[in-house]
Amino acid sequence: MPQNLKAPLLFSLILGFLATQAISISNKKTLDLIEQTCRQSGPRSSNANLEGLAKISVEIVIDKANATLNFIVDLFKNVSDPVLYRSYGTCIDSYDASVERLLPEAIAALSSKDYATSRYDAATVAINVNACDKQFSEKTPFSDRNRLVHDLSLMSAGIIELLG
Ligand SMILES: *[C@@H]1O[C@H](CO)[C@@H](O)[C@H](O)[C@H]1NC(C)=O
Ligand SMILES: *[C@@H]1O[C@H](CO)[C@@H](O)[C@H](O)[C@H]1NC(C)=O
Repeated sequence: MPQNLKAPLLFSLILGFLATQAISISNKKTLDLIEQTCRQSGPRSSNANLEGLAKISVEIVIDKANATLNFIVDLFKNVSDPVLYRSYGTCIDSYDASVERLLPEAIAALSSKDYATSRYDAATVAINVNACDKQFSEKTPFSDRNRLVHDLSLMSAGIIELLG
């Protein structure tokens, strides 16, 4: 698909996704930037714009993943059952790896145009969420947050994939 068709399509995909996830982008500047990024369709600027959009998407994943990590850590403080303790520990380790290592690396790799590494790191965040989810046979207080981070990281990997 030519770049100038990708951009508007992406914009509607992203807005649609954010709407279904009930994410409110409170920062109007961010929203303006996303829209501007997607609307500029000149062949010369489009890859740079797409890269900016990819960076924003990874930053959204960091934000949501960190919020989920903090939420789980809070619950963990009250866990005494040894099996649950280990399960929560696995989730915390998984999210910690995503927030502290994978996602910052995904952003650094974007800057150095190492798109394969960036996409791999973003997609691995979804695998880490699955590792956490698998610990529990029933719905947890953070099942919905897990799903959100999982879906956002795959969306981000999808945007990065458009870069090449
Ligand atoms: C994650 O959240 C904690 C607690 O609010 C904060 O101190 C930390 O800076 C956040 N980390 C990132 C990478 O946003
Ligand atoms: C942890 O337990 C304490 C004491 O029972 C309670 O006050 C607190 O709200 C609990 N925290 C969480 C996050 O459930």
